[in-house]
Amino acid sequence: MKNSDQTFSLQDISPKGLERSRKLTKLIASEIRATNQQVISFDRFMSLALYADSLGYYVSGREIFGAKGDFVTAPESGDLFGFCVAEQCAEILDWNDIAITEFGAGSGALADTIIRYFDGKISPKNFNYYIIEPSPYLSKRQKMRLSKINSQLVEKVKWRVTFPNEGFFGVAIANEVFDAMPARRFTIRHGEIQELGVAYDGENFVWRLKESSVIPDLIRDRMMNYPEGYIAEHIEGQITWFEQLKKFFNSGVLLVADYGYVDKEFFHLDRCDGTLRCYFQHHVHDNPFLAIGLQDITTSVNFSYLAECALSAGFRVDGFTSQAKFLIGNKLDDKIAALSRGDSIDAYRLAQEAKRLILPTHMGESFKFMACSNGIDKTMSGFVDNERFRLG
Ligand SMILES: C[S@@+](CC[C@H](N)C(=O)[O-])C[C@H]1O[C@@H](n2cnc3c(N)ncnc32)[C@H](O)[C@@H]1O
Repeated sequence: MKNSDQTFSLQDISPKGLERSRKLTKLIASEIRATNQQVISFDRFMSLALYADSLGYYVSGREIFGAKGDFVTAPESGDLFGFCVAEQCAEILDWNDIAITEFGAGSGALADTIIRYFDGKISPKNFNYYIIEPSPYLSKRQKMRLSKINSQLVEKVKWRVTFPNEGFFGVAIANEVFDAMPARRFTIRHGEIQELGVAYDGENFVWRLKESSVIPDLIRDRMMNYPEGYIAEHIEGQITWFEQLKKFFNSGVLLVADYGYVDKEFFHLDRCDGTLRCYFQHHVHDNPFLAIGLQDITTSVNFSYLAECALSAGFRVDGFTSQAKFLIGNKLDDKIAALSRGDSIDAYRLAQEAKRLILPTHMGESFKFMACSNGIDKTMSGFVDNERFRLG
């Protein structure tokens, strides 16, 4: 479903949820009114809609993940994804000290699976798991979920709101984190590249051109001479993110998993409306001005630009491949066999889970894995079929 005029039903939302949405609308509207141009950039709007204190989508306490929420991420769909990621971590770290930092752990599903994968295979003294989670609500949820796992490894999990200061050696994972970072939006109007900002007309938020914006070099370069009305998004925060990561990342590998494209596909002329999408109770649409704070807002990742940010911060880019190839390289077949233990019902369920993860019509091709390293040089089974050359 893709329709910017769509008005889906808000009848299932509790009065408390609607009240919170009204408060958030008021907060954003007052910020807009306080500006000279009566318009804010879309990344500021997205940042408030998703992360404003106690009101934003990721901090307000609504059910976000899974069948009862708005969308299902790969770790939410079962153990296969997490077991394959854990296998890749073990290979990188030679089964020695396992130190993992997970950014944006959502409901805690991936941490849960990874801990169960290592349980009984590694001593707690050789295991450390850090979660860097900006949302206090989600950290609480993650703590609750992990406390139910019967393993001493759980005691080795530590939480942080932002980047730690001390040096880190290990594997860092960011699954569907970059797509949740606030993005600016640009369009071509009267032959010029312009920024699309957000204004408030007294009742609704509306798109409005933001005058005298500084256009990022990447957008200026790629959208030059593009057709009238073409739209693309750009996440400026990525470069700072990699610079901050580099400061504490003494040695190890960062695994990024997300939906997105290489540069050529990201700026393809056929995708003239950009990549902005919203998720509300499993409905997908492209209007971020509905159900403020009650729906997810996301954009696809430009992996070529992400690789550029990693390189300029001092990382090496070792691998890029599809989610399907990454999981198959990390012995997805063996995991299905081990988890089904000969039970035909389990085998059927796992086959369905695997299909969702690897079929090109589901997550297999649209989701990608990228590996960036610092200070170590490893062959990684997940990137045996390496398509790094596609990044440009
Ligand atoms: C779409 S959810 C993905 C959750 C989880 N990784 C999964 O795959 O199920 C995005 C997550 O990223 C977190 N997040 C957003 N910006 C972040 C940042 N700059 N650093 C760390 N986490 C961030 C959100 O709070 C949320 O937990």
